[in-house]
Amino acid sequence: MIAVASDHAGLELKKEIIGQLELLGMSYRDYGSFDDSSCHYPEYAFKAAQAVVSGECDRGLLFCGTGVGMSIAANKVPGVRCACCSDVYSAAMARSHNNANLLALGARVLGAGAALEIVKTFLETPFDLSNPRHKQRIDMIHACERRK
Ligand code: RB5
Repeated sequence: MIAVASDHAGLELKKEIIGQLELLGMSYRDYGSFDDSSCHYPEYAFKAAQAVVSGECDRGLLFCGTGVGMSIAANKVPGVRCACCSDVYSAAMARSHNNANLLALGARVLGAGAALEIVKTFLETPFDLSNPRHKQRIDMIHACERRK
């Protein structure tokens, strides 16, 4: 199950990607927003991020104007590793090295075609378990979340 969420700026790109997920036969849950009226991206980032951390969804796709605000907000939720990507290589590395569980995309940065390639790469690339250093580094990040 894939969590998707957007603000008003990311709504159209989210709809495009949802259409592609449907064509690919992939299940998704949309956490809003649902219309193009101006809204606050953290609200929707938190909903989708929480759905991933709780296990309700396996991965999350977030859409706003730049992807930056969504990624900053999502990364405040403990357990989230959200990568804001504008290219396929970064999306592949975000999965294989960082085990990113959410991807943030900028609808004012990317066209739908590029966004789809990035999404596909993000969803298809496994975490690289062959090198224990990747997990060690991720554990260091989450240890920081537990410090007061
Ligand atoms: C909305 O205008 C815009 O600020 C938002 O979509 C996002 O780009 C923030 O990071």
